[in-house]
Amino acid sequence: MDYRALFLFWIAGILTLITLTDSQSVQKDPKKNDPEKRLFNKLFKSYRTSVRPIFQKSQPVKVEVNIDLHQIVELSEKSQFLHMSLWVRMSWIDEHLTWDQDKFEGLAEIQVPSRDIWKPDITIVNNVDDSKSAMKLFSDTPAKVYPNGTVYWLTSSLCKISCKINVENFPFDEQHCTIVLSPWTSDIRFINLTYGEPEGNSGPFVIHGVWDLQGIPVEREEVLYPCCPDPYVEVRYTVVVRRQPNFYLYNQLFPCIPLMLISVLVFCLPTESGERASLAVTLLLAMTVFLNFISENMPPTSEVVPLLAQFFGAAIVLLSVCTSVTVLILNIHYQGEHGKPTPKWLKVIFLDYIGHYLHIKRKPKDRVNESKDGTDGVEKNGTFHASSLNTVYDNRNGDMDMLVSQDSLGHQMQNINCVLALLHEEITTRNREKSRAEDIKEEWQLIAMTFDRMLFIVFIICNVLVNVSIFTKVAFVYVDH
Ligand SMILES: *[C@@H]1O[C@H](CO)[C@@H](O)[C@H](O)[C@H]1NC(C)=O
Ligand SMILES: *[C@@H]1O[C@H](CO)[C@@H](O)[C@H](O)[C@H]1NC(C)=O
Repeated sequence: MDYRALFLFWIAGILTLITLTDSQSVQKDPKKNDPEKRLFNKLFKSYRTSVRPIFQKSQPVKVEVNIDLHQIVELSEKSQFLHMSLWVRMSWIDEHLTWDQDKFEGLAEIQVPSRDIWKPDITIVNNVDDSKSAMKLFSDTPAKVYPNGTVYWLTSSLCKISCKINVENFPFDEQHCTIVLSPWTSDIRFINLTYGEPEGNSGPFVIHGVWDLQGIPVEREEVLYPCCPDPYVEVRYTVVVRRQPNFYLYNQLFPCIPLMLISVLVFCLPTESGERASLAVTLLLAMTVFLNFISENMPPTSEVVPLLAQFFGAAIVLLSVCTSVTVLILNIHYQGEHGKPTPKWLKVIFLDYIGHYLHIKRKPKDRVNESKDGTDGVEKNGTFHASSLNTVYDNRNGDMDMLVSQDSLGHQMQNINCVLALLHEEITTRNREKSRAEDIKEEWQLIAMTFDRMLFIVFIICNVLVNVSIFTKVAFVYVDH
Protein backbone atom coordinates (compact mmCIF):
# COMPACT_ATOMS: atom_id res chain seq x y z
CA MET A 1 0.00 0.00 0.00
CA ASP A 2 2.87 2.28 0.89
CA TYR A 3 4.51 1.67 -2.45
CA ARG A 4 1.22 2.46 -4.26
CA ALA A 5 0.90 5.82 -2.49
CA LEU A 6 4.51 6.59 -3.21
CA PHE A 7 3.98 5.69 -6.87
CA LEU A 8 0.89 7.89 -7.12
CA PHE A 9 2.72 10.75 -5.49
CA TRP A 10 5.56 10.31 -7.93
CA ILE A 11 3.17 10.34 -10.91
CA ALA A 12 1.50 13.47 -9.59
CA GLY A 13 4.88 15.08 -9.11
CA ILE A 14 5.94 14.21 -12.65
CA LEU A 15 2.65 15.50 -14.03
CA THR A 16 2.87 18.83 -12.23
CA LEU A 17 6.48 19.15 -13.32
CA ILE A 18 5.48 18.49 -16.91
CA THR A 19 2.64 21.00 -16.81
CA LEU A 20 4.91 23.52 -15.14
CA THR A 21 7.69 23.14 -17.68
CA ASP A 22 5.08 23.03 -20.42
CA SER A 23 3.54 26.35 -19.41
CA GLN A 24 7.01 27.80 -19.02
CA SER A 25 8.02 26.73 -22.50
CA VAL A 26 4.84 28.23 -23.97
CA GLN A 27 5.71 31.57 -22.37
CA LYS A 28 9.38 31.46 -23.31
CA ASP A 29 9.42 30.12 -26.86
CA PRO A 30 8.00 33.11 -28.95
CA LYS A 31 10.57 35.42 -27.42
CA LYS A 32 13.42 33.15 -28.29
CA ASN A 33 12.05 32.03 -31.59
CA ASP A 34 11.08 35.41 -33.17
CA PRO A 35 12.59 34.88 -36.62
CA GLU A 36 13.12 38.59 -37.26
CA LYS A 37 14.94 39.02 -34.00
CA ARG A 38 17.05 35.96 -34.67
CA LEU A 39 17.75 37.30 -38.13
CA PHE A 40 18.78 40.73 -36.84
CA ASN A 41 21.00 39.07 -34.29
CA LYS A 42 22.57 36.96 -36.98
CA LEU A 43 23.00 39.77 -39.49
CA PHE A 44 24.11 42.61 -37.29
CA LYS A 45 26.15 40.89 -34.61
CA SER A 46 29.38 41.75 -36.37
CA TYR A 47 28.14 44.15 -39.05
CA ARG A 48 30.21 47.26 -39.72
CA THR A 49 28.52 50.06 -41.66
CA SER A 50 31.83 51.25 -43.07
CA VAL A 51 32.77 47.96 -44.69
CA ARG A 52 32.00 47.73 -48.35
CA PRO A 53 29.45 44.89 -48.70
CA ILE A 54 31.26 42.83 -51.28
CA PHE A 55 33.55 39.90 -50.59
CA GLN A 56 35.60 40.29 -53.72
CA LYS A 57 37.27 43.57 -52.83
CA SER A 58 38.65 44.13 -56.32
CA GLN A 59 35.10 44.52 -57.64
CA PRO A 60 33.01 47.68 -57.34
CA VAL A 61 29.63 47.59 -55.67
CA LYS A 62 27.07 48.04 -58.39
CA VAL A 63 24.55 50.65 -57.35
CA GLU A 64 21.45 51.30 -59.41
CA VAL A 65 19.67 54.60 -59.08
CA ASN A 66 16.27 55.88 -60.22
CA ILE A 67 14.56 59.16 -59.55
CA ASP A 68 11.02 60.42 -59.44
CA LEU A 69 10.50 64.14 -59.80
CA HIS A 70 7.86 65.10 -57.30
CA GLN A 71 7.60 68.86 -57.55
CA ILE A 72 9.33 71.91 -58.91
CA VAL A 73 9.26 74.33 -56.01
CA GLU A 74 10.95 77.18 -57.80
CA LEU A 75 13.01 77.85 -60.85
CA SER A 76 14.81 81.09 -60.25
CA GLU A 77 15.92 82.85 -63.42
CA LYS A 78 17.72 85.49 -61.42
CA SER A 79 19.71 83.25 -59.08
CA GLN A 80 19.92 80.43 -61.62
CA PHE A 81 18.85 77.44 -59.55
CA LEU A 82 16.11 74.83 -59.60
CA HIS A 83 14.56 74.08 -56.24
CA MET A 84 12.69 70.79 -56.28
CA SER A 85 11.49 67.79 -54.40
CA LEU A 86 12.96 64.46 -55.55
CA TRP A 87 12.30 60.87 -54.67
CA VAL A 88 15.41 58.79 -55.10
CA ARG A 89 15.43 54.99 -55.30
CA MET A 90 18.75 53.23 -54.88
CA SER A 91 19.46 49.53 -54.83
CA TRP A 92 22.56 47.43 -54.40
CA ILE A 93 23.52 43.98 -53.15
CA ASP A 94 24.90 43.74 -49.66
CA GLU A 95 26.61 40.39 -49.46
CA HIS A 96 26.70 40.56 -45.67
CA LEU A 97 22.93 40.76 -45.47
CA THR A 98 21.81 37.41 -46.92
CA TRP A 99 19.88 34.70 -45.19
CA ASP A 100 18.24 31.38 -45.82
CA GLN A 101 14.52 32.03 -45.86
CA ASP A 102 13.70 28.48 -44.63
CA LYS A 103 15.68 28.93 -41.43
CA PHE A 104 13.74 32.09 -40.56
CA GLU A 105 10.19 30.90 -41.09
CA GLY A 106 10.13 32.15 -44.67
CA LEU A 107 10.91 35.76 -43.73
CA ALA A 108 11.22 37.42 -47.15
CA GLU A 109 11.88 41.05 -46.30
CA ILE A 110 13.10 43.16 -43.43
CA GLN A 111 13.25 46.88 -42.90
CA VAL A 112 16.42 48.33 -41.50
CA PRO A 113 17.18 51.90 -40.45
CA SER A 114 19.48 53.11 -43.16
CA ARG A 115 22.03 54.41 -40.65
CA ASP A 116 22.60 50.79 -39.54
CA ILE A 117 23.77 49.53 -42.92
CA TRP A 118 26.41 50.43 -45.46
CA LYS A 119 25.22 53.10 -47.86
CA PRO A 120 26.92 54.36 -50.99
CA ASP A 121 28.18 57.93 -50.54
CA ILE A 122 26.10 59.10 -53.47
CA THR A 123 25.06 62.71 -53.44
CA ILE A 124 23.84 65.44 -55.75
CA VAL A 125 27.09 67.02 -56.83
CA ASN A 126 25.67 70.26 -58.18
CA ASN A 127 23.61 71.04 -55.13
CA VAL A 128 23.67 74.70 -54.14
CA ASP A 129 21.50 74.56 -51.04
CA ASP A 130 23.71 76.06 -48.38
CA SER A 131 21.55 74.76 -45.52
CA LYS A 132 22.46 71.13 -46.23
CA SER A 133 25.84 69.46 -46.41
CA ALA A 134 26.50 67.19 -49.34
CA MET A 135 26.18 64.03 -47.26
CA LYS A 136 22.87 65.01 -45.66
CA LEU A 137 20.93 65.57 -48.87
CA PHE A 138 18.94 62.36 -48.63
CA SER A 139 16.56 61.82 -45.78
CA ASP A 140 17.32 59.02 -43.35
CA THR A 141 14.53 56.67 -44.37
CA PRO A 142 14.63 52.92 -43.62
CA ALA A 143 15.85 50.50 -46.27
CA LYS A 144 14.32 47.22 -47.39
CA VAL A 145 16.54 44.15 -47.36
CA TYR A 146 15.76 40.90 -49.19
CA PRO A 147 17.16 37.40 -48.52
CA ASN A 148 19.41 37.49 -51.56
CA GLY A 149 21.10 40.59 -50.13
CA THR A 150 19.37 43.16 -52.30
CA VAL A 151 18.94 46.46 -50.47
CA TYR A 152 16.31 48.95 -51.63
CA TRP A 153 16.66 52.39 -50.23
CA LEU A 154 13.78 54.70 -51.02
CA THR A 155 14.70 58.17 -49.96
CA SER A 156 13.75 61.72 -50.75
CA SER A 157 15.53 65.01 -51.12
CA LEU A 158 14.53 68.64 -51.19
CA CYS A 159 17.40 70.06 -53.14
CA LYS A 160 18.48 73.11 -55.07
CA ILE A 161 20.59 72.44 -58.11
CA SER A 162 22.49 75.02 -60.04
CA CYS A 163 21.01 75.50 -63.47
CA LYS A 164 22.24 77.66 -66.28
CA ILE A 165 19.20 79.61 -67.40
CA ASN A 166 19.09 80.56 -71.05
CA VAL A 167 16.54 83.31 -71.65
CA GLU A 168 17.30 83.89 -75.31
CA ASN A 169 13.83 82.82 -76.40
CA PHE A 170 11.98 84.23 -73.43
CA PRO A 171 9.01 83.81 -73.03
CA PHE A 172 9.16 80.74 -75.30
CA ASP A 173 12.16 79.30 -73.56
CA GLU A 174 12.96 75.77 -72.55
CA GLN A 175 15.29 75.16 -69.64
CA HIS A 176 17.55 72.17 -69.11
CA CYS A 177 18.58 71.61 -65.52
CA THR A 178 20.82 68.67 -64.81
CA ILE A 179 20.80 66.71 -61.57
CA VAL A 180 24.24 65.15 -61.26
CA LEU A 181 24.28 62.09 -59.01
CA SER A 182 27.70 60.75 -58.17
CA PRO A 183 29.56 59.11 -55.29
CA TRP A 184 31.38 61.82 -53.44
CA THR A 185 34.49 59.88 -52.50
CA SER A 186 34.29 56.44 -54.07
CA ASP A 187 35.59 56.25 -57.59
CA ILE A 188 34.74 53.50 -60.06
CA ARG A 189 36.95 50.99 -58.27
CA PHE A 190 34.58 51.10 -55.31
CA ILE A 191 31.18 52.02 -56.63
CA ASN A 192 29.88 51.46 -60.12
CA LEU A 193 26.84 53.66 -60.41
CA THR A 194 24.26 52.90 -63.07
CA TYR A 195 20.72 53.91 -63.76
CA GLY A 196 17.73 51.61 -63.93
CA GLU A 197 14.93 53.12 -65.95
CA PRO A 198 15.94 54.96 -69.15
CA GLU A 199 14.20 58.12 -67.97
CA GLY A 200 13.40 59.80 -64.69
CA ASN A 201 9.87 59.11 -63.57
CA SER A 202 7.43 62.00 -63.63
CA GLY A 203 4.45 60.03 -62.32
CA PRO A 204 4.12 61.87 -59.02
CA PHE A 205 4.85 65.26 -60.62
CA VAL A 206 2.70 68.07 -59.28
CA ILE A 207 1.68 70.40 -62.13
CA HIS A 208 3.51 73.71 -62.01
CA GLY A 209 1.90 77.00 -63.01
CA VAL A 210 4.71 78.26 -65.19
CA TRP A 211 6.76 75.24 -66.15
CA ASP A 212 5.63 72.27 -68.21
CA LEU A 213 7.70 69.15 -67.64
CA GLN A 214 8.88 67.80 -70.98
CA GLY A 215 10.94 64.85 -69.82
CA ILE A 216 13.82 63.71 -67.66
CA PRO A 217 16.34 61.93 -69.90
CA VAL A 218 19.28 60.28 -68.21
CA GLU A 219 22.85 59.55 -69.19
CA ARG A 220 25.83 57.94 -67.51
CA GLU A 221 29.32 59.23 -67.81
CA GLU A 222 32.70 58.38 -66.37
CA VAL A 223 34.48 61.59 -65.47
CA LEU A 224 38.15 62.07 -64.71
CA TYR A 225 39.00 64.74 -62.17
CA PRO A 226 42.45 66.28 -61.85
CA CYS A 227 42.66 65.01 -58.28
CA CYS A 228 42.51 61.33 -58.95
CA PRO A 229 43.70 58.80 -61.51
CA ASP A 230 40.49 56.77 -61.53
CA PRO A 231 37.28 58.07 -63.01
CA TYR A 232 34.11 58.77 -61.10
CA VAL A 233 30.77 57.74 -62.44
CA GLU A 234 28.13 60.40 -62.86
CA VAL A 235 24.50 59.74 -63.60
CA ARG A 236 22.91 62.86 -65.00
CA TYR A 237 19.21 63.44 -65.07
CA THR A 238 18.25 66.42 -67.20
CA VAL A 239 14.99 68.03 -66.18
CA VAL A 240 13.57 69.61 -69.33
CA VAL A 241 10.90 72.19 -68.63
CA ARG A 242 9.18 74.56 -70.99
CA ARG A 243 7.69 77.87 -69.97
CA GLN A 244 3.99 78.43 -70.57
CA PRO A 245 4.16 81.75 -72.42
CA ASN A 246 0.52 82.80 -72.10
CA PHE A 247 1.01 84.94 -69.02
CA TYR A 248 3.70 86.99 -70.74
CA LEU A 249 1.85 87.13 -74.03
CA TYR A 250 -1.38 88.45 -72.55
CA ASN A 251 0.17 90.74 -69.98
CA GLN A 252 3.19 92.11 -71.77
CA LEU A 253 3.46 91.43 -75.47
CA PHE A 254 -0.12 91.90 -76.65
CA PRO A 255 -0.72 95.24 -74.87
CA CYS A 256 2.36 96.61 -76.60
CA ILE A 257 1.29 95.90 -80.15
CA PRO A 258 -1.52 98.52 -80.09
CA LEU A 259 0.96 100.92 -78.49
CA MET A 260 3.28 100.40 -81.45
CA LEU A 261 0.44 101.01 -83.86
CA ILE A 262 -0.60 104.16 -82.03
CA SER A 263 2.95 105.42 -82.36
CA VAL A 264 2.38 105.51 -86.13
CA LEU A 265 -0.71 107.64 -85.62
CA VAL A 266 1.43 110.33 -84.01
CA PHE A 267 2.20 111.44 -87.56
CA CYS A 268 -1.48 111.76 -88.39
CA LEU A 269 -2.19 114.15 -85.55
CA PRO A 270 -2.48 117.74 -86.85
CA THR A 271 0.58 119.72 -85.93
CA GLU A 272 -1.52 122.66 -84.73
CA SER A 273 -3.15 120.56 -82.01
CA GLY A 274 0.08 120.68 -80.02
CA GLU A 275 -0.49 117.17 -78.63
CA ARG A 276 1.97 115.33 -80.77
CA ALA A 277 5.04 115.52 -78.59
CA SER A 278 3.12 114.61 -75.44
CA LEU A 279 1.53 111.58 -77.12
CA ALA A 280 4.90 110.33 -78.34
CA VAL A 281 6.50 110.81 -74.93
CA THR A 282 3.60 109.03 -73.17
CA LEU A 283 3.98 106.03 -75.47
CA LEU A 284 7.70 106.00 -74.86
CA LEU A 285 7.13 105.96 -71.10
CA ALA A 286 4.60 103.15 -71.35
CA MET A 287 7.08 101.02 -73.28
CA THR A 288 9.82 101.69 -70.77
CA VAL A 289 7.55 100.55 -67.94
CA PHE A 290 6.81 97.29 -69.77
CA LEU A 291 10.48 96.70 -70.44
CA ASN A 292 11.17 97.23 -66.77
CA PHE A 293 8.68 94.49 -65.83
CA ILE A 294 10.51 92.03 -68.01
CA SER A 295 14.00 92.84 -66.91
CA GLU A 296 12.92 92.41 -63.30
CA ASN A 297 12.53 88.66 -63.87
CA MET A 298 15.54 88.07 -66.04
CA PRO A 299 18.99 87.06 -64.90
CA PRO A 300 21.25 90.09 -65.23
CA THR A 301 23.18 88.55 -68.08
CA SER A 302 24.80 90.24 -71.04
CA GLU A 303 25.20 87.04 -73.02
CA VAL A 304 21.82 87.07 -74.70
CA VAL A 305 18.97 89.52 -75.01
CA PRO A 306 15.60 87.85 -74.50
CA LEU A 307 13.23 87.85 -77.45
CA LEU A 308 10.67 89.95 -75.62
CA ALA A 309 13.32 92.46 -74.55
CA GLN A 310 14.47 92.69 -78.17
CA PHE A 311 10.93 93.57 -79.14
CA PHE A 312 10.66 96.25 -76.47
CA GLY A 313 14.10 97.56 -77.30
CA ALA A 314 13.13 97.98 -80.95
CA ALA A 315 9.85 99.59 -79.93
CA ILE A 316 11.63 102.04 -77.65
CA VAL A 317 14.12 102.98 -80.35
CA LEU A 318 11.27 103.55 -82.82
CA LEU A 319 9.35 105.64 -80.33
CA SER A 320 12.40 107.71 -79.42
CA VAL A 321 13.04 108.45 -83.07
CA CYS A 322 9.36 109.22 -83.45
CA THR A 323 9.49 111.68 -80.56
CA SER A 324 12.57 113.50 -81.79
CA VAL A 325 11.27 113.63 -85.34
CA THR A 326 7.99 115.04 -84.07
CA VAL A 327 9.88 117.82 -82.38
CA LEU A 328 11.77 118.48 -85.61
CA ILE A 329 8.53 118.62 -87.59
CA LEU A 330 7.00 121.04 -85.09
CA ASN A 331 10.06 123.18 -85.49
CA ILE A 332 9.80 123.18 -89.28
CA HIS A 333 6.08 123.85 -89.14
CA TYR A 334 6.51 127.03 -87.12
CA GLN A 335 9.62 128.30 -88.96
CA GLY A 336 7.45 130.45 -91.23
CA GLU A 337 6.06 132.42 -88.29
CA HIS A 338 9.16 134.57 -88.27
CA GLY A 339 9.15 135.06 -92.03
CA LYS A 340 12.35 133.16 -92.50
CA PRO A 341 12.54 132.26 -96.17
CA THR A 342 12.65 128.59 -97.10
CA PRO A 343 16.03 127.46 -98.41
CA LYS A 344 15.91 126.55 -102.03
CA TRP A 345 17.27 123.02 -101.57
CA LEU A 346 14.53 122.25 -99.04
CA LYS A 347 11.91 123.38 -101.51
CA VAL A 348 13.45 121.34 -104.28
CA ILE A 349 13.78 118.17 -102.22
CA PHE A 350 10.52 118.27 -100.31
CA LEU A 351 8.09 120.12 -102.49
CA ASP A 352 9.22 119.12 -105.93
CA TYR A 353 10.53 115.58 -105.54
CA ILE A 354 9.08 113.96 -102.42
CA GLY A 355 5.91 116.00 -102.45
CA HIS A 356 5.32 114.94 -106.01
CA TYR A 357 5.56 111.26 -105.13
CA LEU A 358 3.43 111.61 -102.03
CA HIS A 359 0.80 113.56 -103.97
CA ILE A 360 1.10 116.65 -101.85
CA LYS A 361 0.05 119.58 -104.00
CA ARG A 362 0.40 123.23 -103.22
CA LYS A 363 -2.85 125.02 -102.76
CA PRO A 364 -3.88 126.92 -105.89
CA LYS A 365 -2.11 130.25 -105.54
CA ASP A 366 -5.17 132.51 -105.43
CA ARG A 367 -3.62 135.08 -103.24
CA VAL A 368 -0.38 135.22 -105.15
CA ASN A 369 -2.19 135.68 -108.47
CA GLU A 370 -4.47 138.22 -106.88
CA SER A 371 -1.57 140.38 -105.81
CA LYS A 372 0.04 140.03 -109.21
CA ASP A 373 -3.24 141.04 -110.78
CA GLY A 374 -3.26 143.98 -108.42
CA THR A 375 0.05 145.31 -109.66
CA ASP A 376 -0.87 144.62 -113.23
CA GLY A 377 -4.31 146.08 -112.64
CA VAL A 378 -2.86 149.48 -112.17
CA GLU A 379 -1.22 149.30 -115.52
CA LYS A 380 -4.34 148.00 -117.18
CA ASN A 381 -6.49 150.59 -115.53
CA GLY A 382 -4.36 153.39 -116.86
CA THR A 383 -5.77 155.99 -114.55
CA PHE A 384 -3.55 154.97 -111.64
CA HIS A 385 -0.53 154.28 -113.70
CA ALA A 386 2.66 154.52 -111.73
CA SER A 387 4.56 156.09 -114.59
CA SER A 388 1.83 158.67 -115.00
CA LEU A 389 2.28 159.40 -111.32
CA ASN A 390 5.95 159.92 -111.94
CA THR A 391 5.16 162.38 -114.72
CA VAL A 392 2.89 164.13 -112.29
CA TYR A 393 5.78 164.44 -109.90
CA ASP A 394 8.15 165.47 -112.62
CA ASN A 395 5.73 167.94 -113.97
CA ARG A 396 5.13 169.35 -110.54
CA ASN A 397 8.81 169.90 -109.99
CA GLY A 398 10.09 170.62 -113.50
CA ASP A 399 7.43 172.24 -115.62
CA MET A 400 5.88 174.33 -112.87
CA ASP A 401 4.98 177.07 -115.32
CA MET A 402 3.02 174.71 -117.49
CA LEU A 403 1.11 173.37 -114.48
CA VAL A 404 0.30 176.80 -113.18
CA SER A 405 -0.88 177.95 -116.50
CA GLN A 406 -3.30 175.02 -116.77
CA ASP A 407 -6.90 174.94 -115.72
CA SER A 408 -7.14 174.90 -111.89
CA LEU A 409 -9.87 172.17 -111.81
CA GLY A 410 -7.79 169.90 -113.93
CA HIS A 411 -4.89 170.68 -111.73
CA GLN A 412 -6.75 169.66 -108.61
CA MET A 413 -7.99 166.49 -110.24
CA GLN A 414 -4.47 165.60 -111.08
CA ASN A 415 -3.41 166.17 -107.52
CA ILE A 416 -6.13 163.86 -106.22
CA ASN A 417 -5.17 161.28 -108.76
CA CYS A 418 -1.61 161.55 -107.64
CA VAL A 419 -2.48 160.98 -103.96
CA LEU A 420 -4.72 158.05 -104.83
CA ALA A 421 -1.97 156.48 -106.85
CA LEU A 422 0.45 156.89 -103.95
CA LEU A 423 -2.04 155.29 -101.58
CA HIS A 424 -2.65 152.45 -103.95
CA GLU A 425 0.99 151.77 -104.30
CA GLU A 426 1.37 151.71 -100.53
CA ILE A 427 -1.50 149.24 -100.19
CA THR A 428 -0.25 146.94 -102.92
CA THR A 429 3.25 146.80 -101.50
CA ARG A 430 1.82 146.01 -98.07
CA ASN A 431 -0.45 143.39 -99.56
CA ARG A 432 2.41 141.95 -101.45
CA GLU A 433 4.57 141.76 -98.34
CA LYS A 434 1.80 140.17 -96.36
CA SER A 435 1.05 137.59 -98.98
CA ARG A 436 4.74 136.89 -99.33
CA ALA A 437 4.98 136.23 -95.58
CA GLU A 438 1.99 133.95 -95.80
CA ASP A 439 3.53 132.22 -98.76
CA ILE A 440 6.65 131.56 -96.78
CA LYS A 441 4.58 130.27 -93.86
CA GLU A 442 2.66 128.02 -96.13
CA GLU A 443 5.81 126.72 -97.73
CA TRP A 444 7.26 125.79 -94.38
CA GLN A 445 4.04 124.10 -93.41
CA LEU A 446 4.00 122.21 -96.67
CA ILE A 447 7.53 121.04 -96.07
CA ALA A 448 6.53 119.90 -92.56
CA MET A 449 3.54 118.11 -94.00
CA THR A 450 5.61 116.33 -96.63
CA PHE A 451 8.09 115.34 -93.99
CA ASP A 452 5.20 114.08 -91.88
CA ARG A 453 3.72 111.97 -94.58
CA MET A 454 7.10 110.58 -95.52
CA LEU A 455 7.82 109.57 -91.93
CA PHE A 456 4.34 108.14 -91.53
CA ILE A 457 5.12 105.73 -94.33
CA VAL A 458 8.63 105.03 -93.04
CA PHE A 459 7.28 104.29 -89.57
CA ILE A 460 4.59 101.99 -90.85
CA ILE A 461 7.30 100.05 -92.69
CA CYS A 462 9.57 99.98 -89.63
CA ASN A 463 6.74 98.85 -87.39
CA VAL A 464 5.75 96.10 -89.74
CA LEU A 465 9.38 95.01 -90.06
CA VAL A 466 9.93 94.90 -86.31
CA ASN A 467 6.70 93.01 -85.69
CA VAL A 468 7.23 90.59 -88.53
CA SER A 469 10.84 89.84 -87.55
CA ILE A 470 9.87 89.23 -83.92
CA PHE A 471 6.94 87.04 -84.82
CA THR A 472 8.83 85.00 -87.37
CA LYS A 473 11.45 84.42 -84.69
CA VAL A 474 8.70 83.33 -82.32
CA ALA A 475 7.30 81.05 -84.99
CA PHE A 476 10.73 79.51 -85.57
CA VAL A 477 11.16 78.92 -81.86
CA TYR A 478 7.77 77.22 -81.78
CA VAL A 479 8.59 75.03 -84.75
CA ASP A 480 11.93 74.12 -83.18
CA HIS A 481 10.21 72.72 -80.11
C1 LIG B 1 16.49 39.54 -54.87
O1 LIG B 1 15.16 39.39 -54.39
C2 LIG B 1 14.26 40.42 -54.79
C3 LIG B 1 12.94 40.17 -54.06
O2 LIG B 1 12.57 38.85 -54.10
C4 LIG B 1 14.12 40.41 -56.30
O3 LIG B 1 13.27 41.42 -56.67
C5 LIG B 1 15.50 40.62 -56.90
O4 LIG B 1 15.42 40.54 -58.29
C6 LIG B 1 16.50 39.60 -56.39
N1 LIG B 1 17.83 39.95 -56.87
C7 LIG B 1 18.63 39.09 -57.42
C8 LIG B 1 19.96 39.62 -57.86
O5 LIG B 1 18.31 37.93 -57.57
C1 LIG C 1 29.90 49.37 -64.50
O1 LIG C 1 28.58 49.04 -64.92
C2 LIG C 1 28.37 49.15 -66.32
C3 LIG C 1 26.91 48.91 -66.60
O2 LIG C 1 26.42 47.81 -65.95
C4 LIG C 1 29.27 48.20 -67.04
O3 LIG C 1 29.11 48.33 -68.44
C5 LIG C 1 30.70 48.51 -66.68
O4 LIG C 1 31.56 47.56 -67.26
C6 LIG C 1 30.89 48.49 -65.18
N1 LIG C 1 32.21 48.95 -64.87
C7 LIG C 1 33.02 48.32 -63.98
C8 LIG C 1 34.36 48.91 -63.80
O5 LIG C 1 32.63 47.34 -63.39
